[in-house]
Amino acid sequence: MEFEMPNKAGFVVDDRAEAEYVIWSGAPCMEYCKDSVEITMRALVLDVTPDLDVAPEAVTPVSVVAEVPEPEAAAIDLELAAAGEKVFKKCKSCHQVGERAKNKSGPILNGVVNHAAGSVDGFKYSKAMKAVAEGGLIWTEYELAAFLTKPKAYLKGTKMSFTGLRNEADQLAVIEYLKTFAN
Ligand code: HEC
Repeated sequence: MEFEMPNKAGFVVDDRAEAEYVIWSGAPCMEYCKDSVEITMRALVLDVTPDLDVAPEAVTPVSVVAEVPEPEAAAIDLELAAAGEKVFKKCKSCHQVGERAKNKSGPILNGVVNHAAGSVDGFKYSKAMKAVAEGGLIWTEYELAAFLTKPKAYLKGTKMSFTGLRNEADQLAVIEYLKTFAN
């Protein structure tokens, strides 16, 4: 029997950066996400649960304690960072990095990678940025790449007037460059 794979002509185009990343702003809540737990629905068919010989009170609730391992300080790819320095020229009109960096029309970007969004002292963020910051957004490399792809799509109402870095290699490079400014 002949069978043709749907991607016979080549690989499927990965459009997640445009199609999906924008939906995923903010860090997902993994633990104790609701203020209160209540019954919102009752099963109509009651005879489908296996008949356990245990009274519900006798079942000890399992408490899940998430142990988040400290991320290891990943080595910086200096070659990639050097490429990122060139890409950063596009950001320089608004952002500064390094020891004497000051807030310009955009905030200082020292230490921004893996740091809470919207947290540079003395910078007046947009309401939109303040809102996602309160929601707990962390600038992971993943979120940064999504933001930099198309800032206005990622964060509607952002003050960052920059069309975006469409090229994934440029995104990765500039993020690597930013990593060299730890604080
Ligand atoms: C035209 C000016 C401008 C350009 C160009 C620009 N930005 Fe921005 N950027 C801003 C502004 C303004 C904000 C604050 C956004 C807000 O409050 O909504 C911002 C915010 C950011 C943030 C979030 C900072 C934080 O503290 O949460 C990052 C990261 C960032 N920019 C990176 C970049 C990078 C990387 C480039 C270049 C590829 C770039 N920006 C280009 C103006 C700019």
